[in-house]
Amino acid sequence: MSHPSAPEPLCESPRFGEVQSELEILIRARYPLLYLVSWEEERVEDCLAEVARRRGKRLVCWSIVRGLHAPGESPTAGKRTFNASTSDPLVALDEVLRQVDPIIFLFKDLHPVMRDHAVVRKLKELARHLKSSPKTLVLVSHTACIPPELEKDITVVDFCLPRVEELGHLLDSIVLQVAQQGRLEGELEPAVRQKLLRAALGLTLKEAENAFARTLIQRGCLSEAEVGLILDEKKRVIRKSGILEYHDAHRSLSDVGGLEHLKEWVRKRSVAFSEEARSFGLPPPKGVLLLGVQGCGKSLCARAISQVWNLPLLRLDMGRIFSSLVGSSEENMRRAIATAESVAPAILWIDEIEKAFAGTRGADSDAGTSSRVFGTFLTWLQEKTAPVFVIATANNIATLPPELLRKGRLDEIFFVDLPTPEERQAIFEIHLRSRHRDPQIQDLSRLVALSEGFSGSEIEQAVVSGLYEAFDQGRDLTTEDLEKVLGQTVPLSRTMKEEIDRLRRWAADRARGASSESFLKPETAARQLEFE
Ligand SMILES: Nc1ncnc2c1ncn2[C@@H]1O[C@H](COP(=O)(O)OP(=O)(O)O)[C@@H](O)[C@H]1O
Ligand SMILES: [Mg+2]
Repeated sequence: MSHPSAPEPLCESPRFGEVQSELEILIRARYPLLYLVSWEEERVEDCLAEVARRRGKRLVCWSIVRGLHAPGESPTAGKRTFNASTSDPLVALDEVLRQVDPIIFLFKDLHPVMRDHAVVRKLKELARHLKSSPKTLVLVSHTACIPPELEKDITVVDFCLPRVEELGHLLDSIVLQVAQQGRLEGELEPAVRQKLLRAALGLTLKEAENAFARTLIQRGCLSEAEVGLILDEKKRVIRKSGILEYHDAHRSLSDVGGLEHLKEWVRKRSVAFSEEARSFGLPPPKGVLLLGVQGCGKSLCARAISQVWNLPLLRLDMGRIFSSLVGSSEENMRRAIATAESVAPAILWIDEIEKAFAGTRGADSDAGTSSRVFGTFLTWLQEKTAPVFVIATANNIATLPPELLRKGRLDEIFFVDLPTPEERQAIFEIHLRSRHRDPQIQDLSRLVALSEGFSGSEIEQAVVSGLYEAFDQGRDLTTEDLEKVLGQTVPLSRTMKEEIDRLRRWAADRARGASSESFLKPETAARQLEFE
């Protein structure tokens, strides 16, 4: 699709932003071999053309089917700038060596032949030669695959997905074109424009172009109602990437019974990602670890936080990170992080993190990969500047890597304990109400007494089983139905008493209690687990 040419960018590269400045700096500093990881060849080419223009250099492209060619040159051009034999990578690299002009060479998809010894050797020699020349060799490929021999010579640059400014540039040009054709109904309101751009973050430029164009053609306008369509496109793309899952939150803090300290903490930060908070001098929160007893609402809280903060919830599927089907594990991790950052502000949710990194301390053969992947994650956590809030949950501390808990990586560790009597009452009320039953007609104090040691999830299950009981008997739910179910259930906490105690001891001086009645009071904790 062609759009009318956009206005000439201002001199501070507003279109490509930081990535262009970074490339420009590396090229000026004569980094000889750059490796850009990106799916967006065309965008890389445009960005490098811009850098070349600003530095007074020429851009020359290479692909295995076309050999060396000028960027705009048509594949069927009669007179070619370079010899057809340059489709041989070795011949092409020789040509790079031979040229004396200031040129940026962009080689597309050289990675499959980078296993070839001759190519590796040639690149090594080129690296030395290019250091003292006005030429730069840039490789672009969707995957970073660098032979160990070249690791010290190649600089890898993550060519990030387009930012708001670049998407804005695209959207304006599409709108202008549609308007010129007289097919646009109404104006594009600035507030709606901003929402559309936010919704499109995380898409490649092509994907965003398709999404905007399709929406405009389908609906003939771009209003608030169209934001959802762009978001749907993004969800589709994120799902396709296979590592992150886009969750629709559908849960609010009022669906969570108890955990008042945690809720308060969350509420206080609900504006933390706003422009106002930033100008007030507040850093965006980094993340939390929700640690605690299984079934007590940790995953539920992750969903609720995303809803209260109105941020997209991206669940990182660790199983897929380590599955060799998608790509190398470390690269999958890098890609997941890059996607989350491009969608920022967003929440990156890692459920049951201890399972994913269980191998980092083990002696199994996977431990090396696990700890490298975990290292990539930790470094990012430490250094990240993009507003990506991490929610990690864990049911167990035994396999939790201690590095994760070091100060500065996360804002807070919350301990989510078995619910207190008041919390159990709140949980009964929530689950009765969500199934259209009035909690007030039940004998709640009896239910609370009978459910000692039950997790939120077990209370929910009891309500469901009680409803089955009543349905079976052809009448509505009574307290007796619930009493009966509670009497028949052995809560997990009874069989896992020792583990829970261990968790509490560990958390006592390392974590904050998520409930207002803190587990830190030893009598409470002790009392709660006395069943006999
Ligand atoms: N504090 C709570 N308030 C309301 N419902 C709860 C609570 N804790 C657990 N539940 C119910 O149990 C389900 C499972 O809990 P979950 O959040 O997955 O537990 P965890 O992640 O801590 O193991 C939730 O979806 C919710 O329906
Ligand atoms: Mg969970």
